Amino acid sequence: MDQDHLKNAKNATRRIGRLRSLGIVTAGAAALVAGIAAYKKQDQLVRTFVMPAVRLLPAETSHQLAVLACKYRVCPVSQYEDEQNLHTPFFGRMLSNPIGIAAGFDKNAEAVGGLQDLGFGFIEVGTVTPVAQEGNPKPRVFRLAEEKAIINRYGFNSEGHQAVLQRLRLLRSKEDFNGVVGVNLGRNKSTMSPIADYVQGVRVFGPVADYLVINVSSPNTKGLRDMQTKDKLRELLEEVNDTRSSLDKNKNVPIFLKLSPDLSLDDMKDIVWVIKRKKSRVDGLIVSNTTVSRDQIESSKLAEEAGGLSGPPLKSLSTVMIAQMYQLTDGKVPIIGVGGIATGSDAYEKIEAGASYVQVYTALVYEGPALVENIKAELSALITQQGYTNVADVVGTNCKFYLAKK
Ligand SMILES: Cc1cc2nc3c(=O)[nH]c(=O)nc-3n(C[C@H](O)[C@H](O)[C@H](O)COP(=O)(O)O)c2cc1C
Repeated sequence: MDQDHLKNAKNATRRIGRLRSLGIVTAGAAALVAGIAAYKKQDQLVRTFVMPAVRLLPAETSHQLAVLACKYRVCPVSQYEDEQNLHTPFFGRMLSNPIGIAAGFDKNAEAVGGLQDLGFGFIEVGTVTPVAQEGNPKPRVFRLAEEKAIINRYGFNSEGHQAVLQRLRLLRSKEDFNGVVGVNLGRNKSTMSPIADYVQGVRVFGPVADYLVINVSSPNTKGLRDMQTKDKLRELLEEVNDTRSSLDKNKNVPIFLKLSPDLSLDDMKDIVWVIKRKKSRVDGLIVSNTTVSRDQIESSKLAEEAGGLSGPPLKSLSTVMIAQMYQLTDGKVPIIGVGGIATGSDAYEKIEAGASYVQVYTALVYEGPALVENIKAELSALITQQGYTNVADVVGTNCKFYLAKK
């Protein structure tokens, strides 16, 4: 009897192994077809056949494949000039459109060229930690296919400052590269001094970045989000500001603070008090990171998985928070709005709530590379339809509507 059990178990394991290999081969072939189809600009083929096949792979493997495709530039190259009404200023630079790729896709700055090819107006790399670290054990990324959402608990897997710095230096040395690249900074899991980790990030990446992000809002590093509390944040941002002013090069590199969507209104008021002080000011906010709330996905089998939830279930939470921060800062602090954007009209909502720029991540996983062009086309048309000449004119125009949704 025991022997039969053992035999059955062995057979089952073999069958699962074969199925998994078949899945990997299928998805590998799909990735190849994706590259070729993308190269030939067959967006429909990519969306209908390739993306579903790639999604047969474990989520982290698909992520790695996507980064590789961007790294080796077998992803589609945007064929269109961005419409004039999408051009928008960014701290002395001009973005040809306000749509960026959010942090966490290109954690180690390997894929910047390919991401620019897709048509993004700016690119954020990271989160980067001072010393290389592996992050949490796998599996640590989960697709909630029905909700088109993701739960991730990567836990800042990073190749560390030096590896990322070298890639960015190489990029900057290329004459044909003039993209806007931000670096999202984090701390090591077992650091002795969290503040020193961020300070080091500012020192290392200040000279090569177009903007820096102080990320104190990831839910996957214990104690990280406590740094959003008033006194800790004040201390952190004072040191960050001091370090920036001591840089030899790029002394005015803009600094953004990335916030969690799970903050209360009182927490937000404390944060605004801190960032209005000259010594602990920031140049912009990113609203928001992923949520630990499961209110929007109660019936999902994966709701119990620990980690940050992103995609459509996060959309309204982050839009309302954008409106709140826009109001609390009197519209004087530029906001990058992120959370659940999958269409041009989602982007428009974030902008009319108070965002000057937007970012996407999760929708790219479900919709594939054509997403960027689709969002831009729809956003540009909406701006014209609503009677505005430029995206900048839309910022905050409907803030009150979203405040009322709270
Ligand atoms: C798989 C995954 C990894 C992420 N990693 C990071 C990260 O390293 N640093 C960070 O600031 N945000 C990270 N994020 C959060 C995104 O930057 C973004 O704030 C969030 O996903 C909401 O946008 P979305 O709904 O368009 O995905 C990650 C998100 C996902 C889905």
